Amino acid sequence: MAGARVLLIVLAAAVALLAARPVAATGGVAGVEEVCRSTPFPDLCTRTAGKHAEKYKVVDAVTVLEMQVDAFKKRVKAARRVAKQEVKTAAPTPLVRRALNLCKSYYLDAGDNLGACKRAIGFRDAVTIRATMSMVAQDMQNCDEEFRKAGSTNPMEDHNRSLIEMSEICRTLSNMVPYEHTH
Ligand SMILES: *[C@@H]1O[C@H](CO)[C@@H](O)[C@H](O)[C@H]1NC(C)=O
Repeated sequence: MAGARVLLIVLAAAVALLAARPVAATGGVAGVEEVCRSTPFPDLCTRTAGKHAEKYKVVDAVTVLEMQVDAFKKRVKAARRVAKQEVKTAAPTPLVRRALNLCKSYYLDAGDNLGACKRAIGFRDAVTIRATMSMVAQDMQNCDEEFRKAGSTNPMEDHNRSLIEMSEICRTLSNMVPYEHTH
């Protein structure tokens, strides 16, 4: 009788432990979709990460973030190139020129933070992952703010939208990475 009771307690503890573990979604695109549903832009999230989904057996917040970071880094680089070009060729107003130049440095900083985030993902270092993703999101907000100040003409409008949306996806995913993996 006492033995059965102990067994029950052990079983209950094991169930509680399992329930407390972060949900490991299924693999593949279905897993990506499941994780992306918790982000503010599920479709964009799934479209971006879905391409790489088959490479991962287990899909969770940190693996989806890993898939996002590379794509995001490419977009930030592309935006920086466009901003450089716009300064030279589009004869912007002084305010837009100022915004473009400031955004060039925000994009550069974001690129560095994305690189640091990628390394942190390798270590499952949740603290650094969160810190870098929140700085990237801030860089994107700062750049947007500069264009707002510059008025109606924003030559980076399309870039701005996708960069802001991706930064919010990444920030949300980074907040889903459990601290227990931290070294
Ligand atoms: C940048 O994108 C965001 C998100 O879509 C949007 O709210 C904002 O108005 C855009 N800013 C500019 C200056 O175009």
